[in-house]
Amino acid sequence: MNIAVFASGNGSNFEAIVEATKQGIIEGQVELLICDQKNAYVLERAKKAGVPSAVFSPKSFNSKELYEQEILDLLQAAQIDLIALAGYMRIVGPTLLTAYPEKILNIHPALLPAYPGRNGIRDAYEDGAVNTGVTIHYVDEGIDSGPIIAQELVRIEITDNVATLEEKVHRVEHRLYPTVIQSEIVKLRKAKQHN
Ligand code: GRF
Repeated sequence: MNIAVFASGNGSNFEAIVEATKQGIIEGQVELLICDQKNAYVLERAKKAGVPSAVFSPKSFNSKELYEQEILDLLQAAQIDLIALAGYMRIVGPTLLTAYPEKILNIHPALLPAYPGRNGIRDAYEDGAVNTGVTIHYVDEGIDSGPIIAQELVRIEITDNVATLEEKVHRVEHRLYPTVIQSEIVKLRKAKQHN
């Protein structure tokens, strides 16, 4: 099974996914990194891991459709089966959603539907929440709104600050995302056998 990861920033989840493919936790390989920020650290990680990456600047396209069509051409050429968004800071449009129905996953650092958006960890912390966590869901046309596949709770202790909470949430992310990707791969493989 061929996986593409989409990311815009640091890329710790990208790295965890690649590592899980090497360890056999994920029965598949990361064939492609799609990135929309030319200076993102995730590009360094891809280079080190030997994963091909493609950087696209959405602004240089006349429409989102054209931007996504260009990406789709690459995904199809690489025979990508599954897409994992990992800190990809864009809304996915109909071009990709139609081509990959229920095959685009996203990870969010909060227990959705609580605290969607860019700052899930900080928002939960500043709100004084007792619990937060990690959600993995199918991507739809909304922001952090698709059907939920898996969630794991992270307790916010009185001794936590934003930095320690971030660390705890990321630790869960790096373990949970690979296991969910693997269960989606198992599903996809079964579906392929039935066709
Ligand atoms: C993660 O917290 C993820 O849940 C969110 O963006 C962050 C990306 O972190 N969608 P990284 O780039 O994988 O380190």
